[in-house]
Amino acid sequence: MVLLEARGITKRFGGLVANHRVDFYVEEGEIVGLIGPNGAGKTTFFNVLTGFYRPEEGQVFFLGQDITPLPPEKRCELGLVRTFQVVKTFKNMTVLENVMVGAFVRTASPAKARAMAEEVLRFGGLYEKRFMPAASLTIAEKKRLEMLRALATQPKVLLLDEAMAGLNPTETQEAVALVRRLREERGLAIVLVEHVMEVVMPLSDRVVVLAGGKKIAEGPPQQVARDPKVIQAYLGERYARRKGLVGTV
Ligand SMILES: Nc1ncnc2c1ncn2[C@@H]1O[C@H](COP(=O)(O)OP(=O)(O)O)[C@@H](O)[C@H]1O
Ligand SMILES: [Mg+2]
Repeated sequence: MVLLEARGITKRFGGLVANHRVDFYVEEGEIVGLIGPNGAGKTTFFNVLTGFYRPEEGQVFFLGQDITPLPPEKRCELGLVRTFQVVKTFKNMTVLENVMVGAFVRTASPAKARAMAEEVLRFGGLYEKRFMPAASLTIAEKKRLEMLRALATQPKVLLLDEAMAGLNPTETQEAVALVRRLREERGLAIVLVEHVMEVVMPLSDRVVVLAGGKKIAEGPPQQVARDPKVIQAYLGERYARRKGLVGTV
């Protein structure tokens, strides 16, 4: 069953076309990787899916309902939730309070929100740190906290924007394991935006590649990794970066 579907999404910033007629869907229980070089339009597309941006063209459907006009909080109530590329933990609050913010989407009772948050923290391995200020966590723990706060809203589809960027190899493996458990044990469908292909490939059932705002490839990870269009998009980026390093103007 298709849970989330976007049809013909175009999003412009002035003259810049950040997303151009992008079609996308996520089925129940799927892990979909959304990859592409820097500036490809991945975060913009997430913002359109979750209601932070209104597209100039196209529609977004969730559970069969046209949600294009709905604001993010309404989409969250329906079960479509995201994390942010730049972590947005509430620094002056404890780990527990941060997760309770998510739980309040489902209950007005502080006692219930607390119980829900504690359950989620146990699941995600941050229970021991529940009374610590969020500001004291490592980057990896903050990213995990973001995922758990999103989980506390009881989503059906979870969108993770670069949840593994900046993590060391051990932390990356822990984050990958958590994402797998979200699917296996909580039945979530997940969309992973990652800049680094190596992280997404082993985790995804299906990969969608954006470059220059357009979908240039889609399919099983092994097939996409061999696609000349995809290789070219990434090689182009590497080339540009090398030029930058050399400092040519
Ligand atoms: N709020 C904005 N205003 C103007 N241009 C933007 C804005 N957000 C993104 N862009 C531009 O849109 C393009 C896609 O950006 P983004 O979606 O952040 O890419 P990605 O997440 O794939 O790196 C880039 O060229 C970026 O500079
Ligand atoms: Mg981005």
